[in-house]
Amino acid sequence: MNALIQGASRGIGLEMLRQLLRRDPGGRFVATCRKPPAATDLQALAAESGGRVRVVALELADEASISAAADRSGEFVDELQLVLNAGGFLHRTGQMPERRLADVAGANLLASFAVNAAGPLLVAKYFQRFLPRRDRAVFASLSARVGSIGDNRLGGWYAYRGSKAAQNMFTRCLSVELVRRHRGLICVALHPGTVDTELSRPFQARVAEEQLFTVKRAAAQLLDVIAGLAPEDNGAFIAWDGQSVEW
Ligand SMILES: NC(=O)c1ccc[n+]([C@@H]2O[C@H](COP(=O)([O-])OP(=O)(O)OC[C@H]3O[C@@H](n4cnc5c(N)ncnc54)[C@H](OP(=O)(O)O)[C@@H]3O)[C@@H](O)[C@H]2O)c1
Repeated sequence: MNALIQGASRGIGLEMLRQLLRRDPGGRFVATCRKPPAATDLQALAAESGGRVRVVALELADEASISAAADRSGEFVDELQLVLNAGGFLHRTGQMPERRLADVAGANLLASFAVNAAGPLLVAKYFQRFLPRRDRAVFASLSARVGSIGDNRLGGWYAYRGSKAAQNMFTRCLSVELVRRHRGLICVALHPGTVDTELSRPFQARVAEEQLFTVKRAAAQLLDVIAGLAPEDNGAFIAWDGQSVEW
């Protein structure tokens, strides 16, 4: 199996790549992040992979960068059986999740939508050429339960919730369109649970210890879910334990 791991520099994406290398000794992996020279953990993993990992620069908020990343990937793989979108953000310098309406800022909203929603959709646009026509393949985007509209009882976190809900809609649209040309494709949105990464760090105090997964556990759970996906899962929103999440 060959895979694209988009967002492989750290967190869940990096650990999924690490485990995929072990699970699939014959696989070749395109691993992306914004600044490859700064991604030291990823570079170390690539160096010890025996040439099975190609690190490629990809900025989700820049369509030209995604297009160029697909071209570079074509020098390394012909086909991808897994396209995994793990890149995304909840907070960054100068942007924390909004507690209330007064915290909403237009530029921050657009930044979240560009990265979390438009980014994975544009990855689909430029990487669809690597998807097999008939054989089984998976297009999976890491979403979040807080992006569920039906499950939203707390409010707040406008930019993140809204961008993940939009990402979910795009995944669902892809599940309808792409399967017409790629018969064995399964498109899913995946909720990894709350995972101990930089993304969740500022909010972990409120999370019960048993509900905070290590990246090792989260990556293993997600890879098990991906391995068990069946054609009827195309278009689903699925959590780390295989349970479906309401839209
Ligand atoms: N951790 C959780 O509890 C949790 C819960 C639910 C959902 N998720 C989702 O799971 C995914 C992975 O989260 P994580 O916890 O692993 O986060 P993380 O440790 O902060 O890693 C985020 C990854 O996204 C990449 N990224 C961020 N902004 C980017 C951009 N503009 N362009 C390209 N790549 C970008 C980062 O690459 P750089 O090194 O280039 O910044 C990094 O590889 C996210 O989509 C997140 O929403 C996480």
